[in-house]
Amino acid sequence: MPNPNHASSPVLQPVTIGDLRLKNRIVMAPLTRSRSSTEGVPPPFAVDYYAQRASAGLIVSEATNISPQAVGYAFTPGIWTDAQVESWARVTAAVHANDGLIFLQLWHTGRISHPDVQPNGQLPVAPSAIKPVGSAFTTGGMKEHVTPRALETDEIPGIVEDYRRAADNAKRAGFDGVEIHSANNYLLEQFVRDSTNKRTDIYGGSVENRLRFPLAVVDAVTAVWGGGRRVGIRLSPATTMPGETPLDSDTRGTYDAYVEALGRFDLLYVHTIEGVTQQTRDTSDTVDFLDLRRHFKGAYIGNNLYTLDLAEKALAQGRADLFSFGRPFIANPDLVDRLRSGAPLADAPKPYWYGGDATGYSDWPGMNGQVAFKH
Ligand SMILES: Cc1cc2nc3c(=O)[nH]c(=O)nc-3n(C[C@H](O)[C@H](O)[C@H](O)COP(=O)(O)O)c2cc1C
Repeated sequence: MPNPNHASSPVLQPVTIGDLRLKNRIVMAPLTRSRSSTEGVPPPFAVDYYAQRASAGLIVSEATNISPQAVGYAFTPGIWTDAQVESWARVTAAVHANDGLIFLQLWHTGRISHPDVQPNGQLPVAPSAIKPVGSAFTTGGMKEHVTPRALETDEIPGIVEDYRRAADNAKRAGFDGVEIHSANNYLLEQFVRDSTNKRTDIYGGSVENRLRFPLAVVDAVTAVWGGGRRVGIRLSPATTMPGETPLDSDTRGTYDAYVEALGRFDLLYVHTIEGVTQQTRDTSDTVDFLDLRRHFKGAYIGNNLYTLDLAEKALAQGRADLFSFGRPFIANPDLVDRLRSGAPLADAPKPYWYGGDATGYSDWPGMNGQVAFKH
């Protein structure tokens, strides 16, 4: 039943974060949709898809590879070639024409990859040579993960440089900022957790050493974006997918230290997947998200299984500033309007999530027919 009270919901009112004025506290969570070309160029219909969703207070783009080595999934976009930058520039222009804001999520998949999506069929790289459980999405279908190659110590500054260049390219493409993907057990989180980082050099062992590479990335990326607080970071302390990646042996201690260290940088926000992605919000035995939030002075975006009611409660309790919605944005381009009016939400069948063309991607109607947008 439509609930007219939602029109005045504090979650749906404008808010200023850093120097950004957001139309509301709803963030479109990053959603990989695997519709780019094999060269990692977003398709023309990505312009429609993102422009249609510009009523979110902030859009975080789908995870975007920083380099050829970063790629882990077929048909995901990149930000290292001019063609990629040009295509993203059309997306950002369309979002801005619709009064939206959009950050680019910077991604290196590390061991969650496969030689079939790597340059010259090389092995994926990781902190340590530990094989993930499960399969990778390649151009030839699902293929079992392989044992990755452990990075040499002197290769790591080169990957920091890849992040720096990608952050710079994001600026060229007209993004309003970037989000460093340090969640979901990709490369940065593989360094953070002692379950995937068995190194004995300066990048392994103590928490301080395991945080060294992720913090070097944060340092490089925030330097590119200057003092304007246009960089966020995503964390997922309690998630074991993909790869059936075990949690850190001291989730609370490690992530509290991580968030504390992040406070040294000019970050706009921490964006946290609270609980186990898409499954449960209850992880009270491993991590206290309110406590984690208290360790960070900037803005906090909560994510995972949010509804408007839940977001309103969390805002009233001071648990988060912004709330990101992932799956609901797939089939509801006008999600914010639907939340405001209490209209029912459409559900996107899973076959549309990854791969394919504009069908099930940029052709979802709004609650009053096709969503109006300019570009
Ligand atoms: C199809 C799909 C693609 C996703 N792609 C990304 C991604 O590129 N980067 C990321 O950090 N999380 C990704 N996620 C996780 C979502 O951002 C979000 O954390 C998760 O869906 C839980 O939020 P929700 O309950 O609002 O959907 C993806 C989730 C789905 C369903």
